[in-house]
Amino acid sequence: MPTVVIASPKGGAGKSTAAIILGTELAHAGADVVMLDCDPNHSLTLWADRGALPDRIKVLSNVTESDIVKTIKQYDTDGQIVVVDLEGVASRLVSRAISQGDLVITPMRATTLDATIGVRALQLIAEEEEALDRKIPHAVVFTMTKAIRSKQHSGIAESLAGQGVDLINPPLMERAAFSALFEFGGNLRNMPAQGNMDGAIENAAQFAQAVYKRLTEGV
Ligand SMILES: Nc1ncnc2c1ncn2[C@@H]1O[C@H](COP(=O)(O)OP(=O)(O)O)[C@@H](O)[C@H]1O
Ligand SMILES: [Mg+2]
Repeated sequence: MPTVVIASPKGGAGKSTAAIILGTELAHAGADVVMLDCDPNHSLTLWADRGALPDRIKVLSNVTESDIVKTIKQYDTDGQIVVVDLEGVASRLVSRAISQGDLVITPMRATTLDATIGVRALQLIAEEEEALDRKIPHAVVFTMTKAIRSKQHSGIAESLAGQGVDLINPPLMERAAFSALFEFGGNLRNMPAQGNMDGAIENAAQFAQAVYKRLTEGV
């Protein structure tokens, strides 16, 4: 089963949030999900320890440069979906994780600074493609998107699309419920209501579906 790697050298881009939303929504839809916490800051582990882990989710902490490839290979043969959360750096661990990806997702705020740093993830992916002589499917998802789209957002989206970058639709909106995942643990569905909960759940579910579609149909 597939491995989804969440990668961007930009800290605070929304990687861990995207990983948790993806993992919890896929598990809610019936998939067995193994989440690998490869970030020394342990965001995923902090989330996992915060509340009861949803059914069908396993979190492995402290996955390092020396065991990342072995760990992915071990779990992605078991009929499970592996979601890898990485530190916001470019490192050998990050490159190794990318090399194992069936899909690499780069979360990015649609601001000029974040997009400039975020697209360096695409460079890392291109380097692994070159080394392995295979295409590594990848996509960008905009994060912390506001309901009213700025001109900056539209400009960055157009520019990336013009370069042939696959943009995941919908983007992940800025939602109180998404940041509250780190406060309450668990998933959006068992969390005390935060802001527009139905909107957050719908956004999360559609994002996970868009990712799942890429995994199954290679879109
Ligand atoms: N879509 C979102 N809506 C609201 N808050 C978000 C969203 N995405 C991320 N955040 C918040 O932004 C901060 C950084 O997000 P995080 O996922 O930890 O980024 P990264 O893993 O790339 O460093 C966290 O406080 C998180 O709760
Ligand atoms: Mg993180």
